[in-house]
Amino acid sequence: MDPRRHPDHTLNDGTSIPRFGFGTWQIPDAQARGLVAAALDAGYRHIDTAQMYGNESGVGQGIADSGLARDGLYVTTKLNNNNHDPGRAIASIDDSLNRLGLDYVDLFLIHWPLPTIGIDYVDTWHAMEEIRGSGKARSIGVSNFAPEHLHRVVATGSVVPVVNQIEVHPYFAQHTLRSVNAELGVATEAWSPLAQGQVFGDATLKAIAERLGRPISAVVLAWHLQRNDIVFPKASSVARIRENFDALTLTLDPADVAAIDALNEDRRIGPDPATFDWVPTEEV
Ligand SMILES: NC(=O)c1ccc[n+]([C@@H]2O[C@H](COP(=O)([O-])OP(=O)(O)OC[C@H]3O[C@@H](n4cnc5c(N)ncnc54)[C@H](OP(=O)(O)O)[C@@H]3O)[C@@H](O)[C@H]2O)c1
Repeated sequence: MDPRRHPDHTLNDGTSIPRFGFGTWQIPDAQARGLVAAALDAGYRHIDTAQMYGNESGVGQGIADSGLARDGLYVTTKLNNNNHDPGRAIASIDDSLNRLGLDYVDLFLIHWPLPTIGIDYVDTWHAMEEIRGSGKARSIGVSNFAPEHLHRVVATGSVVPVVNQIEVHPYFAQHTLRSVNAELGVATEAWSPLAQGQVFGDATLKAIAERLGRPISAVVLAWHLQRNDIVFPKASSVARIRENFDALTLTLDPADVAAIDALNEDRRIGPDPATFDWVPTEEV
């Protein structure tokens, strides 16, 4: 058995998630089919998509092309920002499943809390609980939730989110939010684990990579895995998809972990969830 395929994490609802996956943001629908199939061929068993990405159809075709058994795969999608209304949320999971060609997703997330636009993500969370009850999503969670959002959902909901998917990379270590997640039993998923490519120009990371004779991608992704993040780097070529997966064979020593920890600048690359208010106008 290939040991790289089985670093799993048990979530608070008892289900198991592969800690290494393939991210698909900014992969056009037409390319998603081939890249997802390539990732599954390389050994990935966890795919992260979203209604917002517009590529669920291509992702689903890639999954079908792989010929892999459904119960050996982990598929996440996310509720788009125009689907917070509980009725729309419940209808939207059917649309996602139709596009993906699946009977269920393993994980369905509220993509953004949108705290400034007059919707209440707690109402949305109750719809998510209903979706979980229907079996159309095995697990439910949130993304981009700040501590106050997470505390409200945990206090008022009947289901604790299994994950909070948040921006994390060497320049944005997220110590506080990761601790809050852990205290509440919520696993941290790290989006943009390669800082959207910024890590590849970093002198410190380059020096560690050269000394170890490994690519920078492996060094950064191994750092994430050693701090217990769940990661799903995105890449647009088969070579990079395979290179990234190879991070599972690297263990960093404490000095290298500390050197990467020291790169933290508490600097976001993506939007701040406290103010992010983008809602699509088209029907997705
Ligand atoms: N919940 C949210 O709000 C949210 C937000 C952002 C992302 N995400 C999720 O997190 C996933 C990952 O984050 P991300 O896509 O933002 O960025 P990322 O994975 O941190 O970085 C992707 C970038 O790194 C480059 N790259 C990847 N592997 C490489 C390698 N081995 N060598 C050189 N360059 C490499 C890619 O280039 P090429 O593509 O040109 O190969 C791309 O420009 C997303 O795809 C999505 O699934 C979620």
